[in-house]
Amino acid sequence: MEIIIRPSPEECASIGGRIIADLIKRKPNAVLGLATGSTPIPLYSELARMHKDEGLSFSEITTFNLDEYIGLPGDHPCSYQFFMREELFGKIDIRPESTHIPNGESDDIERECLAYEQAIAASGGIDLQVLGIGSDGHIGFNEPGSSLGSRTRIKTLTGKTIEDNARFFEDPNQVPRHCVTMGVGTIMDSAALMLYAFGEGKAEIISKAVEGPVSAMVPASILQMHPCVKVIVDEAAASQLANIEYYKEVYQNKPDWQK
Ligand code: GLP
Repeated sequence: MEIIIRPSPEECASIGGRIIADLIKRKPNAVLGLATGSTPIPLYSELARMHKDEGLSFSEITTFNLDEYIGLPGDHPCSYQFFMREELFGKIDIRPESTHIPNGESDDIERECLAYEQAIAASGGIDLQVLGIGSDGHIGFNEPGSSLGSRTRIKTLTGKTIEDNARFFEDPNQVPRHCVTMGVGTIMDSAALMLYAFGEGKAEIISKAVEGPVSAMVPASILQMHPCVKVIVDEAAASQLANIEYYKEVYQNKPDWQK
């Protein structure tokens, strides 16, 4: 795991922007895995800026989002379909038919989940997956106790996640109880992973995910088993890491061959 600690979310986002731009230069038809929540918003603003100011093109890119609520129509402002159009897809030149978000409105969710897995495989697999982390350690919507080998499926949100996500809804009772999410195993199949976290509220869970034991009770801790992970955090989210000084030293003294 590479732990990158920067002073602000914007500086963290600019690192991710460069990584994605380099990937697109190397592989214009790369497959990106995308996340929702407030955390990836600075990264999406940076990608939109790079598209506008630097001509970064997403025209051959394919994307797969991690998750979606069950039962929210795509035009609901809290659906992840709506979020992605507002925060990213509407600001770049990606082809709408190349973007994929699990369909939480299907009357056959199990078939949808299987089709989602098949579509990821048919695309050649995800080259780079962007992740946030829930305050209970979830990635996607894989709540504590999720099988570390799980695939795309229905999950029930925990009370903590419902409480955390209620801030996006006008009425907290509107937060759906169920969702469709890529599994932990699906996420781990990505060639590379980039986990973001900002703010003091994420400090404890980041220390558990990065330095604690690997456990289904902290689904993000499985990233310790992946060969290519960057954890990009601001100072506040890094504040409870035991090895914080070491991570900073490593990043500041990267030899050229590693940059
Ligand atoms: C939701 C999403 C996750 C995200 C998490 C954190 O639960 N399903 O993918 O990582 O929220 O949200 P935030 O970034 O707003 O803290």
